[in-house]
Amino acid sequence: MFNWKDEYSCNISEIDLQHKNLFELGNKLYTIVSLSQKYDRFDEIVKTLEELRNYTIYHFEFEENLLKLHGYENIEEHKKQHEAFIKKVTSIDEEYMDLNQKKVSMDLLTFILDWIGNHILKTDMGYKEFLNNKGIY
Ligand code: FEO
Repeated sequence: MFNWKDEYSCNISEIDLQHKNLFELGNKLYTIVSLSQKYDRFDEIVKTLEELRNYTIYHFEFEENLLKLHGYENIEEHKKQHEAFIKKVTSIDEEYMDLNQKKVSMDLLTFILDWIGNHILKTDMGYKEFLNNKGIY
């Protein structure tokens, strides 16, 4: 579902690696959700969501620190998008999710996919040239 493409590259190796790891976690969640509905997957879904949330927080902090360190001007707008993503991923009600596992997970996956398209391809690309010009690859 989440296939890495060269056009997603920010030309900064650590950032690309972290984005690829986020894709992996998205794929992991997709695989669990796609499995047979004969078994309750709630615990696995919650665990993977937690992994995704924790890794995303780590990635955002890393990215924001890098941007701050190099004096990137649009950092506040960028941070707002990060905060909105975290809010969405942490706002899921576990009881509701337990009853609607497939729907909630699929909605979330669609949100993540959209977000990757909009954030990595547009917002993150905004700092690519800026950091590359500072010698950050
Ligand atoms: Fe790579 Fe701004 O998240």
